[in-house]
Amino acid sequence: MKPRVFSAMQPTADSLQLGNFLGALVEWVKLQDTHDAIYGVVDLHALTVAPEPEVLRRRSRVTAAQFLAAGVDPSRSIVFLQSHVPEHAELAWLLSTFTGMGEAGRMTQFKDKSARVGESGTNVGLFTYPILMAADILLYDTNVVPVGEDQRQHLELSRDLAMRLNARLGEDTVTVPEPHIVKETAKIFDLQEPTKKMSKSFSSPKGIIEILQDPKSVAKNIKAAATDSDAVIAFDRENKAGVSNLLTIYSALDGRSVDQLVADYEGKMYGHLKVDLAEVVVNYLTPIHDAAMEWIESPDRLDAVLADGAERASEIASATLERLYDRVGLLRPSHRR
Ligand code: TYM
Repeated sequence: MKPRVFSAMQPTADSLQLGNFLGALVEWVKLQDTHDAIYGVVDLHALTVAPEPEVLRRRSRVTAAQFLAAGVDPSRSIVFLQSHVPEHAELAWLLSTFTGMGEAGRMTQFKDKSARVGESGTNVGLFTYPILMAADILLYDTNVVPVGEDQRQHLELSRDLAMRLNARLGEDTVTVPEPHIVKETAKIFDLQEPTKKMSKSFSSPKGIIEILQDPKSVAKNIKAAATDSDAVIAFDRENKAGVSNLLTIYSALDGRSVDQLVADYEGKMYGHLKVDLAEVVVNYLTPIHDAAMEWIESPDRLDAVLADGAERASEIASATLERLYDRVGLLRPSHRR
């Protein structure tokens, strides 16, 4: 049996951004060759930001369409919506009874997000979000979870919960997942504020590269990216965050190492680098953009992929939940025994 990979993205925008793509999706596609892969659109997580119902429905499809357009192959891998498999919410409840208040309260993403919206705008779902994420992962006996750097702490919680379940309920109760975080691309930065991560929810329109954005405006954003004034193309995250971010993106898409790029651009100006990078990004994204649009324009085909994915995911998830319910001492209904 192949090891299992699980990962997921929130449908919180009309397009994924380049950080989602380079930090995670590119790895999802590669891992399909060596792993049994399950990739989810976590629509229950997206409820924590109170989306309009129609917007959430649209974004759920658009997010799945981009997974497929990027190369996730539904004939091999499972692609599904979290809410189609009710065991996610059920396991999250069970896990919440294994999670300490202090432990949940230490999650930095919760602290950042709740500070941004203030106490009155912060719902309990935002607080328990990492527990639902742990449920996503543990339901499938996941070995590896490919994500960007911002999910490292959440994964640590998933691992702690897995180990706690095994200690309390028996060694083979669940699989302890390992993070898969690629150092070079684990954090792609905002083009305008290159010390902050690029984000679907928080980047300005000029700071972000969206997968479904019109190519002209992608090129415009890259050409307008913030860089420093000393005009030397070098990789230095501390002192030259803007150029370093551009070099990271360039290297990830073009295959040349950052060192090679620095050598190739020696003596050239930032403008050269930006013009070339804009072309590389546009060439790379155009076929993905077109493939995503095809999926978006055939919602029936897309829904069929999601229905098939939900059925295959449910089979695994229901067996795991049944095992856990039994081990914690919930009396199973006689028709299931
Ligand atoms: P989400 O939807 O915020 O992000 C999806 C993925 O993209 C990565 N990412 C980045 N990587 C590099 N640079 C960036 N600027 C950047 N921005 C985002 C994220 O690390 C993530 O891998 N909580 C998760 C969704 C989730 C999940 C799961 C993930 C729910 N359950 C189970 C893995 C396993 C999230 O909010 O991702």
